[in-house]
Amino acid sequence: MNVTDIDFLRRRVDEDDALRSAPELREALDSGAPGVGPWLAAFGGRAERNLVLFPLRGAGSDIVLATLLAGGSVVLGDLDAHPARTLAQLERSGATAVTLPSKMVERLNSEPSAPMTDLSELRRIYYVGEPARFDIPGPQLSRVDTLTLDHVEQFVVRFRDAVLASMLLTLQANDVLHDPAVSHSADEILTAAHVAARHHGVVLRWLVALTEHGVLARQGDRFLGTDPISRDAVEKAWDASEKLWTGHLGAAEVAAYFWHNAERLPQLMTGEEQATLLLFPEGRTDIADALYRDTAVARHLNARASETVQRLGAKRILEVGAGTGATSEVVIRDLAGQEGVDYLFTDLSAFFLTTAKERFAEHPWVRYGIYDIDGENPAGMGTFDAVIAAGVLNNARDADATLKRLKELLVPGGSLLIIEPTREYYEILISQAFMMTAAEDARLRSGTTFLSRQQWVEAIDRAGLSLVDVTPDDAHPLSPMSQYLFVARH
Ligand SMILES: C[S@@+](CC[C@H](N)C(=O)[O-])C[C@H]1O[C@@H](n2cnc3c(N)ncnc32)[C@H](O)[C@@H]1O
Repeated sequence: MNVTDIDFLRRRVDEDDALRSAPELREALDSGAPGVGPWLAAFGGRAERNLVLFPLRGAGSDIVLATLLAGGSVVLGDLDAHPARTLAQLERSGATAVTLPSKMVERLNSEPSAPMTDLSELRRIYYVGEPARFDIPGPQLSRVDTLTLDHVEQFVVRFRDAVLASMLLTLQANDVLHDPAVSHSADEILTAAHVAARHHGVVLRWLVALTEHGVLARQGDRFLGTDPISRDAVEKAWDASEKLWTGHLGAAEVAAYFWHNAERLPQLMTGEEQATLLLFPEGRTDIADALYRDTAVARHLNARASETVQRLGAKRILEVGAGTGATSEVVIRDLAGQEGVDYLFTDLSAFFLTTAKERFAEHPWVRYGIYDIDGENPAGMGTFDAVIAAGVLNNARDADATLKRLKELLVPGGSLLIIEPTREYYEILISQAFMMTAAEDARLRSGTTFLSRQQWVEAIDRAGLSLVDVTPDDAHPLSPMSQYLFVARH
């Protein structure tokens, strides 16, 4: 955007009572509003009366600014409002357009009051996320792709910097590493920070991460301190990464979850607090859902996994480590209505089976069971056309042994679908790493949580399976997230 556009937008924001009070819009303007382009392109010069359902951070501010720049006006909505309220707001406001995530489009479809709502003014629905359909006739549905490779690359760097800043703040609060003239051994740091013995490995990896990114310097096997980092600097770093995340790559809850973990690091490190309870507070799964189900990368990979199952014509399917059912939900929905389908939903923990039974109650062909990817295959389990392992194989004590056992459960020609993160994710080192099993495979030597893409390719080959596909490719905007779907054939 050029300077004139920005001045014009400043005036429009200042003229509008609702928008004037939103500091996020001023901030987006001050940073040159880099995310406005895809929305302007989507509006194609149309001056819409636009009901914006995104919060005014991230994508929401881009949409507002693009709407104003195209000569339109904005009505602010609430993403968390009941779908009936949103429909009523659409009717009352006479909006010609609505901008929302694809998930919300589906919710509006199934709202009973939808057929009775007068949406005659509504001409277009602009949405982001997986392809959606809108059952009410009239408005045209446009999917807006807001993600660019550049945006995701920027996010990855900002997010990593925020996590590293929190690690440093946490360690320095224990009176270590805050003086550039003083060095400490790893043991001295672990002792000063009262790190519980079972978490030593995690905090040692923080030291590696901090050194690798130049936050700390190393002198032999000692770590040199650095200038104290302020809480304000840490908060600014989280804020910058959150803006690139929310509404583009996932929900605000996910950003808030990692930030919250970062604030609880002193307690996680000492073992006073359990990482599991931060992910499943009071046994609730809404944060895990947002993390495993509703991120752009999860939606992309789950959709690709389901497409693969459909393309293969697989009928007998085993899912291991199915957990909150993020992948299962998409695959099972797409299998519904087909003849002769059998889906065995398994996890190590019975907790997830109970929730899944309720979630998939309408599909009698879904069965449930306990399956441990570290144990022997139970006798009489049978064979399957496809085995799905989404985000679970990194829990395997020995990935090679697990792959061999999963292969035994495939019919000849059957396929193994693996979804895995494949690099060091520093955010994991401040959250889920506090609840993971220690590895006994290649990760033991490298000290990493996840095998790399190349290591998976090699492990698949060693298991005697042939790799047929890896998604996404390097040119895809989501490739910097380094999470992949591997499809391997028996
Ligand atoms: C990161 S979650 C996987 C995400 C999952 N696909 C979902 O949609 O929620 C890891 C899952 O693996 C399960 N798990 C951990 N260790 C396991 C093991 N040894 N065998 C089977 N499942 C395991 C956990 O209970 C959890 O549900």
